[in-house]
Amino acid sequence: MKIGTPGSSVATKALLLGSGELGKEIAISLQRYGVEVIAVDRYADAPAMQVAHRSHVIDMTDANAVKALIALEAPNLIVPELEAIATDALAEIEAEGNVKIVPNARAIQLTMNREGIRQLAAAELGLPTSKYAFAETFEQLQGAVDAGIGYPCFIKPTMSSSGKGQSMVKTADKLKAAWDYAKAGGRTDTGKVIVEACIEFDFEITLLTVRALNIDGQVETHFCQPIGHVQENGDYRESWQPQPMTEKAIALSQHIAAKVTEALGGLGLFGVELFVRGDQVWFSEVSPRPHDTGMVTMVTQRQSEFDLHARAILGLPVCTNQESTGASAVILGGVAAKSVIYEGLELALSVPDSEVRLFGKPESFVTRRMGVALATSQNTLADARDKAVKAASLIRIVSAS
Ligand SMILES: Nc1ncnc2c1ncn2[C@@H]1O[C@H](COP(=O)(O)OP(=O)(O)O)[C@@H](O)[C@H]1O
Ligand SMILES: [Mg+2]
Repeated sequence: MKIGTPGSSVATKALLLGSGELGKEIAISLQRYGVEVIAVDRYADAPAMQVAHRSHVIDMTDANAVKALIALEAPNLIVPELEAIATDALAEIEAEGNVKIVPNARAIQLTMNREGIRQLAAAELGLPTSKYAFAETFEQLQGAVDAGIGYPCFIKPTMSSSGKGQSMVKTADKLKAAWDYAKAGGRTDTGKVIVEACIEFDFEITLLTVRALNIDGQVETHFCQPIGHVQENGDYRESWQPQPMTEKAIALSQHIAAKVTEALGGLGLFGVELFVRGDQVWFSEVSPRPHDTGMVTMVTQRQSEFDLHARAILGLPVCTNQESTGASAVILGGVAAKSVIYEGLELALSVPDSEVRLFGKPESFVTRRMGVALATSQNTLADARDKAVKAASLIRIVSAS
């Protein structure tokens, strides 16, 4: 593996498509190994842009805009940080063979569409998932629910993330509203929704799974300790590591994660979302990139999920060891404002073993994630969670105007 000098003709360049808080940490991790980082998003001053060598504002769903930028910057690596990207353009660029797409164009295409990844995980790989069906009309949806999916069930646009357009339906009279909501809430209207039977899980986890080269140049799969989390309105609020689980459940989780990531291929870190009840495990979905619930690894692991991703995509060896028990709690905007002021950082950081990351987003919305509080504990998971939640609660966000 060779790395050039940033800013020179021999620079090793990474083009980061998406510049949110996860991208910001990926950028920092890559820069620590001397990579030149170019951050891209649809708005200016996005978090990763604030730490990148330079940045561009483009519509990443516009194939021509993406191709023109790649031609201009001639990166060695393209590192997608979000799902809303013109993936056809990536496939074309990959086929030309001059640039490496992380982990690869097919994996990005499959995982951005719930139909693609379900087809792969359930139908092709035979992995356990919730019962599901796709519907293009309300009648098809009703038919699938009546034919066995039943209530409660989840209705989701096939292309969406962060819970957008998604709802849980408990009774038949609410199905039409969920259909309308899903049709309106998707990222691009694929004309389809997925309906999934509700899994009554004890807890859900993200199993961070890394495909990295060993010193002989062979791909090896590594697992982090499971991360437990709670979701509200489609976004995570708290996560912790390690989530206690049975030996059987952890073995099955690793088996599922290894299968899915192997089928997706390429190098990098994946966030495999699983539902767990006792010894039973169901595959839910997977991100071919660092996962928001994995921000906890910034305090629990020597190599955070961002370091692991950076190392893996550069072809470097990784170590997924966990060093301490820890937790994260998100800091939401709570206010709609163009610019905001954060108060109470000194109070938050006076919570023992705590850390805070403020993302520096140029605009706040009530439910926008503006930062995250992190904490470790020598004692218990509950102690780590309490400290993270406490630290998060001590940050006050006020409108600057
Ligand atoms: N079939 C299901 N059974 C139980 N809970 C579910 C199911 N599908 C989704 N959920 C809940 O909703 C959350 C978000 O769903 P997910 O499919 O991960 O959407 P997104 O792509 O928006 O993250 C999950 O983390 C889980 O808490
Ligand atoms: Mg999810």
